[in-house]
Amino acid sequence: SKMNVIITKDKVEGGKKAFELVEKAIHSDAAVLGLATGSTPETLYKEMRASNTDYSNLISINLDEYKGLPADHPQSYHTFMQENLFKDKPFKKSFIPDGLGDEDEEVKRYNKIIEEYPIDLQILGIGTNAHIGFNEPGTSFLQETHVEKLTEATINANKRYFESEEDVPKYAFSMGIKSILSAKKILLMAFGESKAEAVHDMLNGPITEQVPASILQTHDDVTVIIDEAAASKL
Ligand code: GLP
Repeated sequence: SKMNVIITKDKVEGGKKAFELVEKAIHSDAAVLGLATGSTPETLYKEMRASNTDYSNLISINLDEYKGLPADHPQSYHTFMQENLFKDKPFKKSFIPDGLGDEDEEVKRYNKIIEEYPIDLQILGIGTNAHIGFNEPGTSFLQETHVEKLTEATINANKRYFESEEDVPKYAFSMGIKSILSAKKILLMAFGESKAEAVHDMLNGPITEQVPASILQTHDDVTVIIDEAAASKL
């Protein structure tokens, strides 16, 4: 594939490398950053928080939010972004889907936001089943923002953040694959052995809706930053 792959020693080095690329994009006029949650971008956000860069002229648009969680819920992606980035580095405007929003209204509102602020650089993690955002295997590549039913694998992977598996929301608002592909540049990170198979399938497998991240093979400006463990099946 034509994706640019960078292998780092670990996630700390990966976060530093990602930060360099974010800085470079901002210096070449990126005004809208697409942001991701999960443990993967934490090292990048740490670098951003520690930097002298001012983000207050930039727009941020997050990929997804759990359906049914209020913004102030400890496990909401609103709270995650507040804690990991925005409390130290406020943006001019930050958009995240409203987990309590009416399904149809929220989907429309979010698609309009993405249309109004085309994403210059989209940050992505990847699920162990190769989902991106919350686009699970089987999601149409043509989807824009929608409500996604989470798979058992994803609920299982995310239950570590909740008191029990029953507390993990079963649905999420997510940008679609089509929304993600509309970004000018994409920067995907993956760290750890548990991501090795998804990384392999994304880079080298057939392009199929069963492997959501495989569609990135068709985008012409994707950089993938992985650590040695995530690269172990390449
Ligand atoms: C979550 C998020 C994704 C994230 C992925 C991996 O379900 N919706 O945006 O990339 O799963 O999470 P982690 O980075 O914690 O491994």
